[in-house]
Amino acid sequence: MAGFCFSSLKDIYAACPAMPSAGDISVLAKPVRVSGRTIKNAIAVQPMEGCDGTSSGAPDELTFRRYKRFSAGGAGLLWMEAVSVTPEARANPRQLMLTEENKDVFSRLLDEVRKEAVKAGEEPPLVIAQLTHSGRWSRPVDQPAPVRAWKSAVLDPHQHLPEDYPIATDEYLEALPEKFACSARLAREAGFDGVDVKACHLYLYSELLGAFERPGRYGGSFENRTKLYLDSVDAARSELGSMILATRLNAYDGSAAGWGVGEDGEPDLTEPLMLIDKLRGKGVSLFNITMGTPYFNPHVNRPYNRGGYIPPEEPIKGVARLLNGCAAVQKHVPDAVCLATGFSYLREYAPFVAAGMAERGEAKLFGFGRGAFAYPELARDICLHGGMKHEKCCVTCSLCTAIMRAGGRTGCPVHDTEVYLPEYRRVIKK
Ligand SMILES: Cc1cc2nc3c(=O)[nH]c(=O)nc-3n(C[C@H](O)[C@H](O)[C@H](O)COP(=O)(O)O)c2cc1C
Repeated sequence: MAGFCFSSLKDIYAACPAMPSAGDISVLAKPVRVSGRTIKNAIAVQPMEGCDGTSSGAPDELTFRRYKRFSAGGAGLLWMEAVSVTPEARANPRQLMLTEENKDVFSRLLDEVRKEAVKAGEEPPLVIAQLTHSGRWSRPVDQPAPVRAWKSAVLDPHQHLPEDYPIATDEYLEALPEKFACSARLAREAGFDGVDVKACHLYLYSELLGAFERPGRYGGSFENRTKLYLDSVDAARSELGSMILATRLNAYDGSAAGWGVGEDGEPDLTEPLMLIDKLRGKGVSLFNITMGTPYFNPHVNRPYNRGGYIPPEEPIKGVARLLNGCAAVQKHVPDAVCLATGFSYLREYAPFVAAGMAERGEAKLFGFGRGAFAYPELARDICLHGGMKHEKCCVTCSLCTAIMRAGGRTGCPVHDTEVYLPEYRRVIKK
């Protein structure tokens, strides 16, 4: 596997001359306004499932620990991990799910998270709930139980789905906006600052965006493929009041499917930008732009040094693709707030690239996923101490994913060894 071969920013720009850069990273410590709210700095924690909720979907001990550490670490925005809108749509039996019965636990979590920031001498972060239907990646109990949007010549064989495996019916789909509305109401009652109607990584709504050949009301034309998502955004918005309406959206599926993919296989953002306009019209003010799927083309989704296969490209190219996708969206809707993804691979050089993007108007927020598992206080180091420390950075080794795929509760076994090294050993041995 490829090691991280950059020992200076200069090396990164030699490999990728178009990569933005700035010598001064102080812009990242400045507040960002969205929907009348203030995010205290430009650093976000990306949604990162820990697979550690209770069987009924409530946050459990390790969920509390994780978000309290993120909050104490100084990030302005915590984009909480996937929260399922219905039991059959959970991606694992420990995935979070908001219900009438457990919303008080979410409330307590948010309360403790905010207090943790204050204890650390910080303003509390804003927290977004990511509402999701896991679609073909659903595994609500122990076995996969895919809800597929359409047949896929690429993903069906990958998942060993037979030709006659059921397709989600129009009737099943049309009941979903109501579930997003119900979860959005519960998120408001629990005290979240905003809600994300998720359409990325080839989960159900993301898969539908590329369902060119699906017959019926939710496939074929651009209007049909985007209808369920837009209806769900409307439904969620009706419950939100003044909360932030957000979305995490694939700008490009990569080799797994056809949304945002040009004839040459490279990103073609014609349709994603048309959709962004529609989402803006519906009041979405915060866009978290991402690509690919962790199940089939993880090198597109989260550029890595070690993973399930040797990536067919230099990981830095994957980083550039992710950042360019966000830049194109931010340039298209300059008044909206766009959050860029793909910084963990860059280690301690990430803040300089992020500040360069900010200077060029290519994003307003900068998110860390694996990086935040490894180094929860990275935002404080960026905003107050001049940058990230090399020895604390994520090494993009994919062990967090390996634990998750093996059914464990996940985090960083390299840097957060007390909890996750034993968990890694336990599930890998099993
Ligand atoms: C263990 C793990 C869990 C993740 N959980 C989620 C999730 O719940 N929702 C989501 O949108 N993305 C999820 N992601 C993707 C990350 O948010 C992020 O897009 C990806 O890791 C690339 O960013 P990075 O390079 O900063 O890690 C997850 C990734 C990993 C490795």
